[in-house]
Amino acid sequence: MKFEDIKKIGVCGAGSMGSGIIQICAMAGYEVQVLEVSEQAWERGKSLIDGSLKRFLKKEKITQDDYDAIWKRISFSTDVAPFKDVDFVIEAVFENFDVKKETYNKLDEVLREDVIIASNTSSICITDLSSVTKRPDKFIGMHFFNPVPMMKLVEVIPALQTSEETVEITMQLAKKIGKEPVKCTDTPGFIVNRLLVPMFIEAARMVEEGVATPEDIDKAMKLGAGMPMGPCELMDFTGVEITYHVGNIFYEYTKNAYFNPPHLLRKMVKAGYLGRKAGKGFYDYDK
Ligand SMILES: NC(=O)c1ccc[n+]([C@@H]2O[C@H](COP(=O)([O-])OP(=O)(O)OC[C@H]3O[C@@H](n4cnc5c(N)ncnc54)[C@H](O)[C@@H]3O)[C@@H](O)[C@H]2O)c1
Repeated sequence: MKFEDIKKIGVCGAGSMGSGIIQICAMAGYEVQVLEVSEQAWERGKSLIDGSLKRFLKKEKITQDDYDAIWKRISFSTDVAPFKDVDFVIEAVFENFDVKKETYNKLDEVLREDVIIASNTSSICITDLSSVTKRPDKFIGMHFFNPVPMMKLVEVIPALQTSEETVEITMQLAKKIGKEPVKCTDTPGFIVNRLLVPMFIEAARMVEEGVATPEDIDKAMKLGAGMPMGPCELMDFTGVEITYHVGNIFYEYTKNAYFNPPHLLRKMVKAGYLGRKAGKGFYDYDK
């Protein structure tokens, strides 16, 4: 398979990330075949894509003709059969090893042998995933950031068995769909989360120890380190349970204490203080 031969992209999952991935692939001119679990799930994905495309339309980043053409390139299905003629697959199903494995098993039944599968996983070891496919040399991590249509970065993560050709094609595809790829070995957190997660965890530890208030920690990092949002605000924004969960996974993999979430995070998760969406986290919010 050559990069130039890629015409149709398969995307598994049309949730928060999948919907953005579908959108940018279709905007780049690719035909996109989507696999979802139900019509209800794909309708949710469709409305996420539509909301985003309409914002692009309003800001005149696309025309009405572009909007119509983008939608014509996207097809949805709950059946994997239409993946028989896709040329590249991006998987963005639930962050669960068994769900991903089951998806790859289905894909292996219908995909051509030369087709690459790229996973958008944030926390599962890429080599663990590649090893349950029939194509470990054509399996790779392709880690997008939320919201996908706006965030420029993609981390490209080869598994131990991934071929150089697979890496090259994935890097080229990332550029073609408007992203800036960076390469990283298969290691917990890749680049961004390996740096961000310990900072979040240390900020929570500082709150727990009474070193400073969330307000002062955030103010310090915004005014002293140039961050647009402080770590406590960011944890509230993404969901406190995500930092707790991901910290635990990275700690399991590495036994590095800096990934080990403090007791405060566990208590916040148990209490339902999950951040913005819950009305309470490190801060209080109007629901
Ligand atoms: N949310 C983020 O900020 C973020 C950032 C980077 C990477 N990721 C990764 O992206 C992936 C998806 O995360 P998300 O936040 O979009 O989750 P999500 O829950 O919003 O979406 C997952 C979608 O996958 C669908 N799905 C589940 N099982 C399926 C199957 N067997 N076949 C087809 N579709 C299936 C669900 O119906 C759902 O629509 C995860 O691996 C996650 O780690 C998430």
